Amino acid sequence: MRSIDAIKQRCESAIKRANNLVDLERLEIEYVGRKGELTTILRSLKNKSEEERKKIGKEANDLKEELKRRFAKLRRELEKELPGLRLKKERLDVTAPGIRRLVGGVHPITVTLRDVCRIFSTMGFAVAEGPEVETEWYNFDALNIPADHPAREMWDTFWLKPTNQKSKIKNQKLLLRTHTSPVQIRFMQTHKPPFKIISPGRVFRYEATDATHDFQLWMLEGLVVGREVSVANFKSVMEVFFKELLGSGVEARLRPSYFPFTEPSFEVDMRRGGGSWLEVFGAGMVHPQVLRNCGINPNEWQGFAFGGGIDRLAMLKYKIPDIRLFREDDIRLLRQFRRAS
Ligand code: FA5
Repeated sequence: MRSIDAIKQRCESAIKRANNLVDLERLEIEYVGRKGELTTILRSLKNKSEEERKKIGKEANDLKEELKRRFAKLRRELEKELPGLRLKKERLDVTAPGIRRLVGGVHPITVTLRDVCRIFSTMGFAVAEGPEVETEWYNFDALNIPADHPAREMWDTFWLKPTNQKSKIKNQKLLLRTHTSPVQIRFMQTHKPPFKIISPGRVFRYEATDATHDFQLWMLEGLVVGREVSVANFKSVMEVFFKELLGSGVEARLRPSYFPFTEPSFEVDMRRGGGSWLEVFGAGMVHPQVLRNCGINPNEWQGFAFGGGIDRLAMLKYKIPDIRLFREDDIRLLRQFRRAS
């Protein structure tokens, strides 16, 4: 009897303390569950005398029923409070000042790269890409620049040390591409003319740096091959491109030049507002030998190609005086290209 009273007292004070459904469930298990204290007492009755069985059995059963009723009542009360509790927890002060999120920006080179691709796409050019590590053949030989050709001096090259790794490319020296012309070679080898492509990408030059030269830069090259493609076509493509990218007020000029893979060859210079001329593109009519190297018959097909620095275009567009600023990651420069939030 005494132990039943003690259970009752303990349970009552525990019920007073219970203020959530988890507490309640724990109490139910402890007091009226299958392994609870009252059940244990009821189970042990079989060893008692008839009189004790009747007395203790009744007391224990009464208490069990009473506790069950109390638990059910408590459950109803707690469940009623739930929505209020949740509201309290999820209270939102709509008048509180907001938290300004830091918005990242797009790098000026990326902005220019995207602009360039969009402009050429509207003129029907496809975008082709290729590897940054190239073989000597794709970067030079296929472009009509054999090993002993003095024109190789035009591209100061980062040569890669041969490794012991098994290479699929046998007997080929590897280098970091100095231009994206090899992408055009790869494209010509695998596609039938006519076609119009641009090949934007990162290139590397083993060069001392100054305000207009970096050892790593972004290049945009282009190639158009068809039956009747002329320098006049090239000029008009350039005119549309410059107007779209830089707006009016930009002047361009063509200067005769030399590239082993084009004949004739020229250089495209640009200036803005009467400023100084900046060489942006090299260009020319694709050399017949280059077409032949790629399995294209030069008697049937002809084309023009061009290639220039995206960094230099971005310099002109955003009036950035030094090419090295692009890779210094100076937050004061990058902030100016933050997207409007
Ligand atoms: C070439 O690399 C040729 N492949 C371009 C070409 C393609 C000509 C197709 C004809 C036909 P060049 O080395 O001149 O050419 O580089 C082209 C342009 O890249 C230059 O006019 C200049 O705008 C830019 N450029 C070259 N070197 C650097 C450098 N170190 N830093 C920044 N821009 C550079």
